[in-house]
This record gives sequence, C-alpha cells and structure tokens, in this order.
Amino acid sequence: METIITSTSSKLTAFNSPSSTKSHPFSPKFSFNFPGNRNRKNLISLKQASFSYRPLSVKANSSQAATSTETTKIGTVPSEMKAWLYGDYGGVDVLKFDEKVTVPEMKEDQVLIKVAAAALNPVDGKRRQGKFKATDSPLPTVPGYDVAGVVVKVGSQVKEFKAGDEVYGNINEKALEGPKQFGSLAEYTAVEEKLLAPKPKNLDFVQAAGLPLAIETAYEGLERTGFSSGKSILVLNGSGGVGSLVVQLAKHVFGASKVAATSSTRNLELLKSLGVDLAIDYTKENFEDLPEKFDVVYDAIGQCDRAVKAVKEGGAVVALTGAVTPPGFRFVVTSNGAVLKQLNPYLESGKVKPIVDPKGPFPFSQVVEAFSYIETNKATGKVVIHPIP
Ligand SMILES: NC(=O)c1ccc[n+]([C@@H]2O[C@H](COP(=O)([O-])OP(=O)(O)OC[C@H]3O[C@@H](n4cnc5c(N)ncnc54)[C@H](OP(=O)(O)O)[C@@H]3O)[C@@H](O)[C@H]2O)c1
Repeated sequence: METIITSTSSKLTAFNSPSSTKSHPFSPKFSFNFPGNRNRKNLISLKQASFSYRPLSVKANSSQAATSTETTKIGTVPSEMKAWLYGDYGGVDVLKFDEKVTVPEMKEDQVLIKVAAAALNPVDGKRRQGKFKATDSPLPTVPGYDVAGVVVKVGSQVKEFKAGDEVYGNINEKALEGPKQFGSLAEYTAVEEKLLAPKPKNLDFVQAAGLPLAIETAYEGLERTGFSSGKSILVLNGSGGVGSLVVQLAKHVFGASKVAATSSTRNLELLKSLGVDLAIDYTKENFEDLPEKFDVVYDAIGQCDRAVKAVKEGGAVVALTGAVTPPGFRFVVTSNGAVLKQLNPYLESGKVKPIVDPKGPFPFSQVVEAFSYIETNKATGKVVIHPIP
C-alpha cells in the first residue's frame, strides 16, 4: 500500500461555469455532552445485548457483512480530482462536473479520505439554493456532508486513524456554520479526525455513507428531548433519512415503550419492520386527532403546529424544520465521531439498520438526478452516490 503526500493548493481549479465569478459504547467512558444527555445509563445497559441481523427489503445494496469485499485503491494521491461543484446558488442546473478540481489541502488534525460513497441530505439542496448563504463557506462549493471511504493520508496530530482505515462520518461539524468548501461529492475529501468513526464492519460503503448526518440528528434530537426507557414517541416522517433512524434508536437503543410514526401508505410496512408499533398513514388520518398522546413528538417534516397537539402535558416536541410552535424547539445537528462510535455496536449487531432508497445508489455521473430526487421529498431512507471514480 503506497501513500504519497502531495502538496496542494486549496483553490478550485478549472471551474467551467461562465457565471462563476465569485472567489473563491460503545464505551462507558462516553463523555459526549449534549444538553439533556440523561440516557447514558440506559444506553450502556443495552451495550451487551446481541442481536441478529435481518436485512430489510428496502435497501439498494443488500449485501451483508460487506467488510472489505469492496476494494478502494490506495495509491498516489493526485493533485487534481473529479468532483461536482457549483459556482452560483440555484436549482440543480448549477451543478457541474469537473475533472480538474484541486485535491483539498489537509490540516494537521485532519485525514484525507478517498471517497467510496457519499450521501445526500436535504441540507445539501437547501444550501445549494442559497438558503444558508449568510453563514456558508465561499463559492464555488463541492457539496456533500456524508462520506464513507478509506483514509489515504493523515495529519501530524491525528492519533486514531492511519492510511488504509475504512471510515465514515459527517464532514461538517456545524451543518449551517461554515460547512466545508470541499465536500464529499468528490474523489477526495479532508475531514477532522474527531468527526469520523471506523466504518461498521458489517456494512458496505453505500450503507455506511447514508448514516452519519441522519443518525447524529436522530440521536441528538432524542437526547435533547430527554428521551429514555419506557417513554412513548410519535415520529413525523418515519420513512425519511432521519425518521427511519429516530424510530430505530427510540425502540432498540433507548427502550421506548411505544413508537408511533407517520408515512404515506406505501411506507407503512417499512415502518413496522423498523419496530414501529403504530404506523399512521398521513394520507388517511390526522395524527393529532388520535386520542392517544405521547411523551415525545419528533417532527422531521415541519408540522410543529400540529405536533404540539399530540404531546402529553409536560412532554417534549423537537422540530427539525419549519416554523416552531411552543413548547416545540429546534436544534441544528452537530457532527461528532464519538456518537457514531457509540452507536457502531448497534449497527454491527443489526439492531439498527441503514435504509438506502431503492432508486439508488446513484452513480457519480447522476448526481444531478440524485439531487432532483431528494428534493421531491419522497425518498425512502437515504439517497446514496456510488460508485465514485
Ligand atoms: N435541524 C437539523 O439539524 C436537521 C438535520 C437533518 C435533517 N433536517 C431536516 O429534517 C427534514 C427531514 O430530513 P430527512 O433527511 O429525513 O428527509 P427525507 O429523507 O428527504 O424525507 C423524505 C420522506 O418524507 C416523507 N414525507 C413527505 N411528506 C410527508 C408528510 N406530510 N408526513 C410524513 N412524512 C412525509 C416521505 O414519505 P412518504 O414518501 O411516505 O410521503 C419520505 O420518505 C428535512 O427538512 C431536513 O432538512 C434538519
């Protein structure tokens, strides 16, 4: 295995858009400190449980125990790479493929990853539309938060990872505050060690790439509501990237007494297969009209005004998007490799399963189609890009 350190510039090169004028435990020692981090004991007590892995029907890549069956070549790191990027905010038409983007420079606390698979999140589309431009990094942008791949170079301060390690993570610590200019929709991306975790051994790169931002959001939201064993929860949008993981974490990691979730008719069976006790078809029923109320309502669709009507008195409502109605609250996810490491045993035991949308994975040549698809708000689980050259 050969790894050569190449000195590069952080400037994007050969950008072709004529309009691009802008410059450019799990461990009992777990000490992650979210506000409302009250469930550590509960989580640790579940650590020892062993679970069998049952593949789901909704999964683009159903191969199990895929560790190292895919080979990602580690060799000389080139100075230029293939990447998708945009030089202006706008619709999917601003996305351009470029074969001569400079490989990002790596800082001392970072590793350089050869990207094997990347996943899209709604934030990628919203960012591209300029919704967060006030706090975005400068254009042009190589989009992409989620990555799974192989470490090819490490900075001098990196302790845990070495070249050849298979890792996954959400490369942006703060989703909306200065996300990286060089994202994961590229052959290489540079990421702080603390944002990464070893790829779960039983998952392939496609499955792993879909997890980081969504599972970190799912977990942080549950923590912030003070969710714990014996509580009930209603998840609005249980079939999406985040909701499909909220459901599973609530049931299989936190020990929920009852999990209810909404989806359209076609996704009700998926919800049940994830552990949902009460699957509500939002095309036929209004969840707020149910006589039953919940300790926590996790709104992953933007219906906080209705969500607050479904919570028990004194309960908590977390809203990921849309207007917030009290007592609901909003947070923006923080990327943290420690959370992924903590959840890895649940993924490796098969208790928590990645859901990859069956329309994918989309090859690297179809990133525009993948963006268009996630922006329909109809993706089931995650939209993953693979292979990446
Ligand atoms: N604040 C944060 O830190 C944070 C972090 C992550 C995500 N988010 C936001 O949270 C939202 C969800 O993200 P995501 O990645 O889970 O989205 P997603 O995967 O793109 O969601 C797609 C899903 O939405 C479902 N859906 C559409 N209309 C629905 C409705 N009226 N009721 C229930 N479900 C409905 C669809 O199910 P059907 O096909 O069955 O309709 C589909 O499976 C996005 O707005 C995202 O930007 C915020």
